[in-house]
Amino acid sequence: MEIIKFPTVLSKFGMLSYFQDFADYFSEIKRIYYICGVKKGIRRGMHAHKELEQITFCPYGTIRFRLDDGLSKEEIILNEPNKGLYIGKGIWREMYWEEDNSVLVVAASMLYDENDYIRDYETFLSMVKSGYWVRK
Ligand code: TYD
Repeated sequence: MEIIKFPTVLSKFGMLSYFQDFADYFSEIKRIYYICGVKKGIRRGMHAHKELEQITFCPYGTIRFRLDDGLSKEEIILNEPNKGLYIGKGIWREMYWEEDNSVLVVAASMLYDENDYIRDYETFLSMVKSGYWVRK
């Protein structure tokens, strides 16, 4: 997990943020998806990925992330358009919508593949224990 601050151009016409040259995180963005139309109080996620890596941000609203590497948990709030979050492989994530209609955008290192998901927490923990992911 790493917080990323996107470069931002502010003017009287608004705020423009961007990210580029993200090779420190993964080699290629293969997919972009976004989640909208979510009511406050909704929880999403509740899964980990075997290989997928993501950079995610919330350009509108407030979304709280609970991230768990199987050993420790941490919470990160995305509530600024220029604040991004890198999530590596093998991280259990839960996202809590703190405001109606908060938007979550995700740039992902792989195409969608349901086989890459781990949707059962006990399975996730046993994979962590077996050393499935080498932690830095
Ligand atoms: P999921 O990743 O489980 O979303 P969340 O963790 O936010 O609840 O995806 C929800 C559904 O959408 C699931 O049926 C898979 C499908 N989906 C795709 O078809 N393509 C995609 O790129 C993504 C991210 C999800």
